[in-house]
Amino acid sequence: MANVVLKNIAKQFGDVVAVNDVNLEIADREFVVLVGPSGCGKTTTLRMIAGLEEISGGEISIGDRVVNKLTPMERNIAMVFQSYALYPHMKVFDNMAFGLKMRKVSKEQREKQVKKAAEILGIEDLLDRKPKQLSGGQRQRVALGRAIVRDPDVFLFDEPLSNLDAKLRVQMRIELKKLHERLQATVVYVTHDQVEAMTMGDRIVVMKDGIVQQVGSPLDLYNRPANQFVAGFIGSPAMNFIPCRLVQEKSRYQIDTGDYRIVLPDSLSSKVSAARGDEFVFGIRPEHFLNTLAADIEGSDLPVIKATINVIETLGKETFLDLSTGDHSLTALLDADIDAKTHQDIELVPNMDKIHLFSAESGEAIF
Ligand SMILES: Nc1ncnc2c1ncn2[C@@H]1O[C@H](COP(=O)(O)OP(=O)(O)OP(=O)(O)O)[C@@H](O)[C@H]1O
Ligand SMILES: [Mg+2]
Repeated sequence: MANVVLKNIAKQFGDVVAVNDVNLEIADREFVVLVGPSGCGKTTTLRMIAGLEEISGGEISIGDRVVNKLTPMERNIAMVFQSYALYPHMKVFDNMAFGLKMRKVSKEQREKQVKKAAEILGIEDLLDRKPKQLSGGQRQRVALGRAIVRDPDVFLFDEPLSNLDAKLRVQMRIELKKLHERLQATVVYVTHDQVEAMTMGDRIVVMKDGIVQQVGSPLDLYNRPANQFVAGFIGSPAMNFIPCRLVQEKSRYQIDTGDYRIVLPDSLSSKVSAARGDEFVFGIRPEHFLNTLAADIEGSDLPVIKATINVIETLGKETFLDLSTGDHSLTALLDADIDAKTHQDIELVPNMDKIHLFSAESGEAIF
Protein backbone atom coordinates (compact mmCIF):
# COMPACT_ATOMS: atom_id res chain seq x y z
CA MET A 1 0.00 0.00 0.00
CA ALA A 2 1.05 3.59 -0.32
CA ASN A 3 0.77 7.19 0.71
CA VAL A 4 -0.31 9.85 -1.78
CA VAL A 5 1.14 13.35 -1.82
CA LEU A 6 -0.22 16.23 -3.88
CA LYS A 7 2.03 19.26 -4.15
CA ASN A 8 0.65 22.45 -5.65
CA ILE A 9 -1.61 20.52 -7.98
CA ALA A 10 -3.39 22.62 -10.57
CA LYS A 11 -5.61 21.98 -13.54
CA GLN A 12 -6.90 24.38 -16.12
CA PHE A 13 -9.28 23.58 -18.94
CA GLY A 14 -8.75 26.60 -21.20
CA ASP A 15 -9.94 29.52 -19.10
CA VAL A 16 -11.54 27.34 -16.43
CA VAL A 17 -9.42 26.78 -13.34
CA ALA A 18 -10.80 23.42 -12.19
CA VAL A 19 -8.21 22.77 -9.47
CA ASN A 20 -6.16 25.51 -7.89
CA ASP A 21 -2.95 24.81 -5.99
CA VAL A 22 -4.06 21.78 -3.99
CA ASN A 23 -1.67 20.48 -1.33
CA LEU A 24 -2.52 17.29 0.46
CA GLU A 25 -0.71 14.45 2.17
CA ILE A 26 -2.68 11.23 2.40
CA ALA A 27 -1.13 8.65 4.70
CA ASP A 28 -0.73 5.00 3.87
CA ARG A 29 -4.04 3.20 4.62
CA GLU A 30 -5.88 6.41 5.29
CA PHE A 31 -9.47 6.89 4.11
CA VAL A 32 -9.67 10.46 2.83
CA VAL A 33 -12.85 11.97 1.45
CA LEU A 34 -12.91 14.88 -1.00
CA VAL A 35 -16.21 16.68 -0.62
CA GLY A 36 -17.71 19.84 -2.05
CA PRO A 37 -20.47 21.14 -4.29
CA SER A 38 -20.84 20.24 -7.94
CA GLY A 39 -18.03 21.60 -10.08
CA CYS A 40 -15.57 22.21 -7.23
CA GLY A 41 -12.89 20.00 -8.79
CA LYS A 42 -13.27 16.67 -6.97
CA THR A 43 -13.40 14.41 -10.02
CA THR A 44 -10.65 16.35 -11.73
CA THR A 45 -8.40 15.91 -8.68
CA LEU A 46 -9.12 12.18 -8.58
CA ARG A 47 -8.52 11.77 -12.30
CA MET A 48 -5.18 13.54 -11.96
CA ILE A 49 -4.16 11.11 -9.21
CA ALA A 50 -5.28 8.25 -11.45
CA GLY A 51 -3.32 9.57 -14.40
CA LEU A 52 -6.45 9.94 -16.52
CA GLU A 53 -6.03 13.71 -16.65
CA GLU A 54 -2.77 15.50 -17.28
CA ILE A 55 -1.87 18.01 -14.58
CA SER A 56 -1.28 21.66 -15.48
CA GLY A 57 1.13 22.15 -12.58
CA GLY A 58 2.48 20.54 -9.45
CA GLU A 59 3.65 17.11 -8.48
CA ILE A 60 1.86 13.90 -7.51
CA SER A 61 3.62 11.11 -5.62
CA ILE A 62 2.24 7.67 -4.81
CA GLY A 63 4.30 5.62 -2.39
CA ASP A 64 7.20 8.10 -2.55
CA ARG A 65 7.39 7.78 -6.31
CA VAL A 66 6.65 10.84 -8.44
CA VAL A 67 4.01 9.64 -10.90
CA ASN A 68 3.48 12.76 -13.03
CA LYS A 69 4.72 11.04 -16.13
CA LEU A 70 3.46 7.52 -15.42
CA THR A 71 0.47 5.98 -17.21
CA PRO A 72 -2.57 4.96 -15.16
CA MET A 73 -1.49 1.34 -15.38
CA GLU A 74 1.98 2.08 -14.04
CA ARG A 75 0.54 3.88 -11.02
CA ASN A 76 -1.06 0.72 -9.62
CA ILE A 77 -4.29 2.40 -8.61
CA ALA A 78 -7.87 1.23 -9.10
CA MET A 79 -10.71 3.62 -9.74
CA VAL A 80 -14.41 2.97 -9.16
CA PHE A 81 -16.70 5.32 -11.05
CA GLN A 82 -20.18 6.55 -10.32
CA SER A 83 -21.45 4.83 -13.47
CA TYR A 84 -19.65 1.57 -12.55
CA ALA A 85 -18.61 1.35 -16.22
CA LEU A 86 -19.18 -2.39 -16.44
CA TYR A 87 -18.96 -4.08 -19.85
CA PRO A 88 -22.59 -5.03 -20.60
CA HIS A 89 -21.76 -7.96 -22.87
CA MET A 90 -19.39 -9.60 -20.37
CA LYS A 91 -20.34 -11.82 -17.47
CA VAL A 92 -19.54 -10.63 -13.97
CA PHE A 93 -16.54 -12.93 -13.85
CA ASP A 94 -15.08 -11.49 -17.04
CA ASN A 95 -15.84 -7.94 -15.95
CA MET A 96 -13.87 -8.55 -12.80
CA ALA A 97 -11.05 -10.41 -14.54
CA PHE A 98 -10.71 -7.95 -17.41
CA GLY A 99 -8.05 -5.74 -15.84
CA LEU A 100 -5.98 -8.77 -14.90
CA LYS A 101 -6.24 -10.13 -18.42
CA MET A 102 -5.00 -6.81 -19.78
CA ARG A 103 -2.03 -7.19 -17.49
CA LYS A 104 -1.37 -10.67 -18.84
CA VAL A 105 -2.07 -12.38 -15.54
CA SER A 106 -2.39 -16.15 -16.05
CA LYS A 107 -5.84 -17.72 -16.30
CA GLU A 108 -5.32 -19.72 -13.15
CA GLN A 109 -4.26 -16.67 -11.18
CA ARG A 110 -7.18 -14.65 -12.58
CA GLU A 111 -9.64 -17.26 -11.38
CA LYS A 112 -8.07 -17.31 -7.97
CA GLN A 113 -8.13 -13.53 -7.55
CA VAL A 114 -11.67 -13.09 -8.87
CA LYS A 115 -12.91 -15.85 -6.57
CA LYS A 116 -11.27 -14.25 -3.58
CA ALA A 117 -12.71 -10.80 -4.34
CA ALA A 118 -16.16 -12.29 -5.00
CA GLU A 119 -16.00 -13.97 -1.62
CA ILE A 120 -15.07 -10.74 0.14
CA LEU A 121 -18.04 -9.00 -1.49
CA GLY A 122 -20.49 -11.87 -1.21
CA ILE A 123 -21.13 -12.11 -4.95
CA GLU A 124 -19.85 -15.67 -5.64
CA ASP A 125 -23.29 -16.63 -6.95
CA LEU A 126 -23.40 -13.83 -9.50
CA LEU A 127 -20.25 -14.56 -11.48
CA ASP A 128 -22.13 -16.05 -14.44
CA ARG A 129 -24.61 -13.21 -14.80
CA LYS A 130 -24.41 -10.22 -17.10
CA PRO A 131 -24.61 -6.70 -15.58
CA LYS A 132 -28.19 -6.14 -16.75
CA GLN A 133 -29.26 -9.16 -14.68
CA LEU A 134 -28.06 -7.45 -11.49
CA SER A 135 -29.60 -4.97 -9.08
CA GLY A 136 -27.95 -1.59 -8.56
CA GLY A 137 -26.31 -2.72 -5.35
CA GLN A 138 -24.99 -5.88 -6.99
CA ARG A 139 -23.57 -3.92 -9.91
CA GLN A 140 -21.91 -1.66 -7.43
CA ARG A 141 -20.27 -4.67 -5.78
CA VAL A 142 -19.05 -5.95 -9.13
CA ALA A 143 -17.46 -2.57 -9.83
CA LEU A 144 -15.79 -2.79 -6.42
CA GLY A 145 -14.74 -6.37 -7.15
CA ARG A 146 -13.07 -5.29 -10.34
CA ALA A 147 -11.03 -2.82 -8.32
CA ILE A 148 -10.20 -5.27 -5.54
CA VAL A 149 -8.88 -8.07 -7.80
CA ARG A 150 -6.12 -5.81 -8.95
CA ASP A 151 -4.73 -5.47 -5.43
CA PRO A 152 -3.90 -1.81 -6.07
CA ASP A 153 -1.80 0.47 -3.89
CA VAL A 154 -4.56 3.07 -3.82
CA PHE A 155 -8.30 2.93 -4.38
CA LEU A 156 -9.94 5.96 -5.97
CA PHE A 157 -13.71 6.20 -5.66
CA ASP A 158 -15.78 8.77 -7.54
CA GLU A 159 -19.28 8.94 -5.99
CA PRO A 160 -19.63 5.16 -6.11
CA LEU A 161 -22.88 5.11 -4.13
CA SER A 162 -24.78 7.92 -5.80
CA ASN A 163 -26.84 5.62 -8.04
CA LEU A 164 -28.16 3.61 -5.10
CA ASP A 165 -31.34 4.32 -3.17
CA ALA A 166 -31.02 5.88 0.27
CA LYS A 167 -31.28 2.68 2.26
CA LEU A 168 -28.80 0.75 0.16
CA ARG A 169 -26.45 3.70 0.27
CA VAL A 170 -26.34 3.54 4.06
CA GLN A 171 -25.70 -0.20 3.92
CA MET A 172 -22.94 0.10 1.31
CA ARG A 173 -21.35 2.91 3.28
CA ILE A 174 -20.85 0.52 6.15
CA GLU A 175 -19.68 -2.26 3.86
CA LEU A 176 -17.14 0.01 2.24
CA LYS A 177 -15.76 0.95 5.64
CA LYS A 178 -15.47 -2.70 6.58
CA LEU A 179 -13.81 -3.40 3.26
CA HIS A 180 -11.31 -0.66 3.91
CA GLU A 181 -10.49 -2.21 7.25
CA ARG A 182 -10.08 -5.59 5.72
CA LEU A 183 -7.99 -4.53 2.72
CA GLN A 184 -5.85 -2.09 4.71
CA ALA A 185 -5.84 0.11 1.64
CA THR A 186 -5.30 3.78 1.00
CA VAL A 187 -8.58 5.26 -0.22
CA VAL A 188 -9.40 8.60 -1.81
CA TYR A 189 -13.16 8.89 -1.95
CA VAL A 190 -15.10 11.63 -3.73
CA THR A 191 -18.63 12.63 -2.82
CA HIS A 192 -20.77 15.74 -2.76
CA ASP A 193 -22.72 14.30 0.18
CA GLN A 194 -21.51 15.66 3.49
CA VAL A 195 -23.14 12.82 5.43
CA GLU A 196 -21.13 10.30 3.43
CA ALA A 197 -18.00 12.36 4.04
CA MET A 198 -18.63 12.62 7.78
CA THR A 199 -19.43 8.96 8.26
CA MET A 200 -16.70 7.48 6.08
CA GLY A 201 -13.64 9.70 6.18
CA ASP A 202 -10.70 9.43 8.57
CA ARG A 203 -10.11 12.91 7.23
CA ILE A 204 -12.20 15.13 5.03
CA VAL A 205 -11.01 17.63 2.45
CA VAL A 206 -13.61 20.30 1.76
CA MET A 207 -13.24 21.93 -1.66
CA LYS A 208 -14.90 24.91 -3.30
CA ASP A 209 -14.11 26.44 -6.68
CA GLY A 210 -11.03 24.25 -7.07
CA ILE A 211 -9.58 25.41 -3.76
CA VAL A 212 -9.18 23.37 -0.59
CA GLN A 213 -11.12 25.11 2.18
CA GLN A 214 -10.18 22.90 5.12
CA VAL A 215 -8.68 19.50 5.86
CA GLY A 216 -9.49 17.72 9.09
CA SER A 217 -11.22 14.90 10.91
CA PRO A 218 -15.03 14.91 10.72
CA LEU A 219 -15.29 16.37 14.21
CA ASP A 220 -12.62 19.01 13.53
CA LEU A 221 -14.72 20.28 10.67
CA TYR A 222 -17.95 20.07 12.60
CA ASN A 223 -16.65 21.74 15.74
CA ARG A 224 -14.09 24.13 14.32
CA PRO A 225 -14.97 25.09 10.75
CA ALA A 226 -12.31 27.39 9.34
CA ASN A 227 -14.80 29.50 7.44
CA GLN A 228 -18.46 30.09 6.81
CA PHE A 229 -18.49 27.86 3.74
CA VAL A 230 -17.27 24.80 5.66
CA ALA A 231 -19.58 25.66 8.55
CA GLY A 232 -22.57 25.70 6.22
CA PHE A 233 -21.54 22.66 4.21
CA ILE A 234 -20.77 20.25 7.05
CA GLY A 235 -23.66 19.34 9.34
CA SER A 236 -27.31 18.70 8.63
CA PRO A 237 -29.57 20.58 9.02
CA ALA A 238 -27.20 23.39 8.15
CA MET A 239 -25.86 25.92 10.62
CA ASN A 240 -27.96 29.07 11.11
CA PHE A 241 -26.23 32.22 9.88
CA ILE A 242 -27.40 35.62 11.07
CA PRO A 243 -25.72 38.87 9.97
CA CYS A 244 -24.56 40.86 12.97
CA ARG A 245 -22.28 43.57 14.34
CA LEU A 246 -20.13 43.61 17.40
CA VAL A 247 -20.76 46.12 20.14
CA GLN A 248 -18.91 46.73 23.35
CA GLU A 249 -20.81 47.61 26.48
CA LYS A 250 -19.41 47.79 30.00
CA SER A 251 -16.18 46.35 28.57
CA ARG A 252 -17.96 43.24 27.37
CA TYR A 253 -18.44 42.32 23.74
CA GLN A 254 -21.90 41.57 22.45
CA ILE A 255 -23.21 40.17 19.21
CA ASP A 256 -25.94 42.47 17.91
CA THR A 257 -28.17 41.09 15.15
CA GLY A 258 -30.56 44.04 15.26
CA ASP A 259 -33.22 41.73 16.72
CA TYR A 260 -31.35 40.60 19.80
CA ARG A 261 -28.01 40.82 21.53
CA ILE A 262 -25.87 38.06 22.92
CA VAL A 263 -23.23 38.91 25.52
CA LEU A 264 -20.04 37.02 24.80
CA PRO A 265 -18.04 35.33 27.52
CA ASP A 266 -14.75 36.98 28.47
CA SER A 267 -12.89 33.95 27.20
CA LEU A 268 -13.67 35.09 23.64
CA SER A 269 -12.61 38.72 24.16
CA SER A 270 -9.12 38.42 22.74
CA LYS A 271 -10.35 36.74 19.55
CA VAL A 272 -13.11 39.28 19.13
CA SER A 273 -10.90 42.30 19.78
CA ALA A 274 -8.50 41.09 17.09
CA ALA A 275 -11.31 40.78 14.51
CA ARG A 276 -11.20 43.24 11.63
CA GLY A 277 -14.19 44.82 9.90
CA ASP A 278 -17.66 45.88 10.95
CA GLU A 279 -19.86 43.21 9.46
CA PHE A 280 -19.97 39.74 10.93
CA VAL A 281 -22.05 36.59 10.77
CA PHE A 282 -23.26 34.85 13.89
CA GLY A 283 -23.43 31.06 13.47
CA ILE A 284 -25.22 28.46 15.54
CA ARG A 285 -26.20 24.93 14.61
CA PRO A 286 -29.87 23.95 15.03
CA GLU A 287 -28.85 21.30 17.58
CA HIS A 288 -26.94 23.80 19.71
CA PHE A 289 -29.77 25.42 21.56
CA LEU A 290 -30.33 24.29 25.12
CA ASN A 291 -33.29 22.00 25.37
CA THR A 292 -35.38 24.42 27.36
CA LEU A 293 -37.47 27.45 26.70
CA ALA A 294 -36.05 30.34 28.66
CA ALA A 295 -39.27 30.91 30.57
CA ASP A 296 -38.39 27.71 32.43
CA ILE A 297 -35.19 29.23 33.73
CA GLU A 298 -36.29 32.73 34.53
CA GLY A 299 -33.97 34.70 36.70
CA SER A 300 -30.80 33.22 35.21
CA ASP A 301 -28.58 35.50 33.15
CA LEU A 302 -28.36 33.12 30.20
CA PRO A 303 -28.52 34.88 26.84
CA VAL A 304 -31.85 34.38 25.12
CA ILE A 305 -33.10 34.77 21.59
CA LYS A 306 -36.73 35.81 21.35
CA ALA A 307 -38.40 34.02 18.48
CA THR A 308 -41.78 33.08 17.08
CA ILE A 309 -42.52 29.53 16.01
CA ASN A 310 -43.64 29.25 12.37
CA VAL A 311 -43.58 25.53 11.84
CA ILE A 312 -43.10 22.54 14.12
CA GLU A 313 -41.86 19.29 12.61
CA THR A 314 -42.14 16.36 14.97
CA LEU A 315 -39.87 13.50 14.02
CA GLY A 316 -40.40 11.34 17.06
CA LYS A 317 -36.81 11.36 18.31
CA GLU A 318 -36.55 15.12 18.00
CA THR A 319 -38.48 18.20 16.99
CA PHE A 320 -37.56 20.84 14.43
CA LEU A 321 -38.69 24.37 14.95
CA ASP A 322 -38.73 26.87 12.11
CA LEU A 323 -38.64 30.26 13.79
CA SER A 324 -38.61 33.97 13.04
CA THR A 325 -36.61 36.47 15.01
CA GLY A 326 -37.54 39.91 13.69
CA ASP A 327 -36.09 40.04 10.19
CA HIS A 328 -34.30 36.72 10.34
CA SER A 329 -35.22 33.10 10.47
CA LEU A 330 -33.76 30.30 12.55
CA THR A 331 -33.98 26.55 12.70
CA ALA A 332 -33.75 24.78 16.04
CA LEU A 333 -33.59 21.09 16.78
CA LEU A 334 -34.89 20.23 20.22
CA ASP A 335 -35.89 17.11 22.09
CA ALA A 336 -39.24 15.65 21.15
CA ASP A 337 -40.74 16.40 24.56
CA ILE A 338 -40.38 20.16 24.23
CA ASP A 339 -43.71 21.85 24.89
CA ALA A 340 -44.18 24.18 21.93
CA LYS A 341 -47.05 25.35 19.75
CA THR A 342 -47.22 27.01 16.34
CA HIS A 343 -47.24 30.85 16.47
CA GLN A 344 -46.04 30.73 20.08
CA ASP A 345 -43.44 33.30 21.14
CA ILE A 346 -40.53 31.58 22.82
CA GLU A 347 -37.07 32.34 24.14
CA LEU A 348 -34.30 30.14 22.87
CA VAL A 349 -31.08 29.70 24.81
CA PRO A 350 -27.96 29.21 22.68
CA ASN A 351 -25.30 26.88 24.01
CA MET A 352 -22.53 29.47 24.37
CA ASP A 353 -19.78 26.86 24.00
CA LYS A 354 -21.02 26.10 20.51
CA ILE A 355 -21.52 29.47 18.90
CA HIS A 356 -19.48 30.73 15.94
CA LEU A 357 -18.62 34.10 14.48
CA PHE A 358 -17.39 34.74 10.95
CA SER A 359 -16.11 37.79 9.14
CA ALA A 360 -18.84 38.79 6.68
CA GLU A 361 -16.21 39.99 4.23
CA SER A 362 -13.77 37.08 4.12
CA GLY A 363 -15.96 34.37 5.61
CA GLU A 364 -13.11 33.36 7.92
CA ALA A 365 -13.98 32.06 11.34
CA ILE A 366 -13.19 34.36 14.28
CA PHE A 367 -14.27 31.69 16.75
N1 LIG B 1 -12.88 18.16 -19.82
C1 LIG B 1 -13.23 19.36 -19.33
N2 LIG B 1 -13.20 20.46 -20.09
C2 LIG B 1 -13.53 21.68 -19.61
N3 LIG B 1 -13.92 21.90 -18.35
C3 LIG B 1 -13.97 20.85 -17.53
C4 LIG B 1 -13.64 19.52 -17.97
N4 LIG B 1 -13.78 18.67 -16.93
C5 LIG B 1 -14.19 19.43 -15.90
N5 LIG B 1 -14.29 20.74 -16.25
C6 LIG B 1 -14.68 21.86 -15.36
O1 LIG B 1 -13.83 21.81 -14.22
C7 LIG B 1 -14.55 22.10 -13.05
C8 LIG B 1 -14.41 20.96 -12.06
O2 LIG B 1 -15.06 19.82 -12.56
P1 LIG B 1 -15.12 18.44 -11.77
O3 LIG B 1 -15.71 17.44 -12.68
O4 LIG B 1 -13.79 18.14 -11.22
O5 LIG B 1 -16.14 18.81 -10.61
P2 LIG B 1 -16.74 17.88 -9.46
O6 LIG B 1 -16.36 18.50 -8.17
O7 LIG B 1 -16.36 16.48 -9.69
O8 LIG B 1 -18.31 18.09 -9.66
P3 LIG B 1 -19.53 17.02 -9.56
O9 LIG B 1 -19.90 16.93 -8.12
O10 LIG B 1 -20.61 17.70 -10.36
O11 LIG B 1 -19.08 15.73 -10.15
C9 LIG B 1 -15.97 22.39 -13.48
O12 LIG B 1 -16.13 23.77 -13.60
C10 LIG B 1 -16.07 21.70 -14.82
O13 LIG B 1 -17.01 22.33 -15.65
MG1 LIG C 1 -17.46 14.73 -10.14
